[in-house]
Amino acid sequence: MAIRARIVSVGTALPEKIVGNDHFATYLDTSDEWIVRRTGIKQRRFVDDPKSPTATSDLGSIAAKNAIDKAGIDPATIDAVICATFSPDNFFPSTACAISNKVGASKSFAFDISAACAGFVYGLTIANSLILSGQCKTVLLVGAEVVSRTLDFNDRSTCILFGDGAGAIVLRGEEGERGILSCECFSDGSLGDILKLPVPWNGSPSMFMNGTEVFKNAVRLMTDVTRKAICSARLEFADINLLVPHQANIRIIQAMGEYLGLSEDRVVVNVERFGNTSAASIPIALAEAWDSGRISEGDLVVFAGLGGGLTVGGAVARF
Ligand SMILES: CC(C)(COP(=O)(O)OP(=O)(O)OC[C@H]1O[C@@H](n2cnc3c(N)ncnc32)[C@H](O)[C@@H]1OP(=O)(O)O)[C@@H](O)C(=O)NCCC(=O)NCCS
Repeated sequence: MAIRARIVSVGTALPEKIVGNDHFATYLDTSDEWIVRRTGIKQRRFVDDPKSPTATSDLGSIAAKNAIDKAGIDPATIDAVICATFSPDNFFPSTACAISNKVGASKSFAFDISAACAGFVYGLTIANSLILSGQCKTVLLVGAEVVSRTLDFNDRSTCILFGDGAGAIVLRGEEGERGILSCECFSDGSLGDILKLPVPWNGSPSMFMNGTEVFKNAVRLMTDVTRKAICSARLEFADINLLVPHQANIRIIQAMGEYLGLSEDRVVVNVERFGNTSAASIPIALAEAWDSGRISEGDLVVFAGLGGGLTVGGAVARF
């Protein structure tokens, strides 16, 4: 029987500090009403103090430990640690190296990937390939971001959208029907300028976004990649139990659901409470759905993400 990369467990880490929309209205020309109507976001979590030492690897390692505990594995049996992030602790050493040290994955090789908000699906694609090739048996995949460090808090069109957080999954190679069934990734560098975080010595140190362009492309590309992932898994939409999309804006998610013909009960949404946590958003949404019983053994789940690059990824897994 064929080996598949099964998602064994998921863990999360969310900062305690909750910041509601009203906070932004105290110093910017914005309102709770505008933010909810245009984005669906009501609140987000930020690490305590932008100058405090909470690092991306701190959040990432808490989520990772949570996933490792739920999987019931010895961290020393993890072969690879992959961290998807655009807000790393350092350019190097990688955030994945710090996480592997913090969780005791002492025999792993560790590396970061840069695919912004599509990072989790890109990481899933790499983890799947490492397992299917026989190189690895167990992979820890983490999406972790302290996005608040990258924002211009005077830019009302970006700072209201994002939040900090981390999510992690343990994948293991196993015989059987359960596991990753397809991965589809695509990048379009010609659209790189519509969403970017320049290096600090080359322009603004804060995130730049052309919201309208990102919005249009997000709906189009995330819908396309979801269709492709389902098709390459040789499945039909009717077979899919749940869509777990990147949580950027409720209007993007609703438009996708409409194009794909998926009713609301088959789409996971939590953007109202966490905002856009970039590479962490899909595993955080997955954890909520799984922990609350919305996913049962044998269920088919499709993931879809999009981020700066532009990067786009879709994947189907049988749980
Ligand atoms: C940013 C976003 C919410 C803006 O919503 P929109 O409906 O497209 O609004 P527009 O960009 O057309 O702007 C309309 C007006 O609202 C204003 N506006 C922007 N942010 C605002 C805010 N927080 N409060 C009040 N007004 C705001 C704009 O300045 C503009 O004003 P103007 O007409 O005087 O120029 C939306 O474009 C979006 O979500 N884009 C995708 C972003 C995203 O998902 N990024 C990450 C992808 S991984």
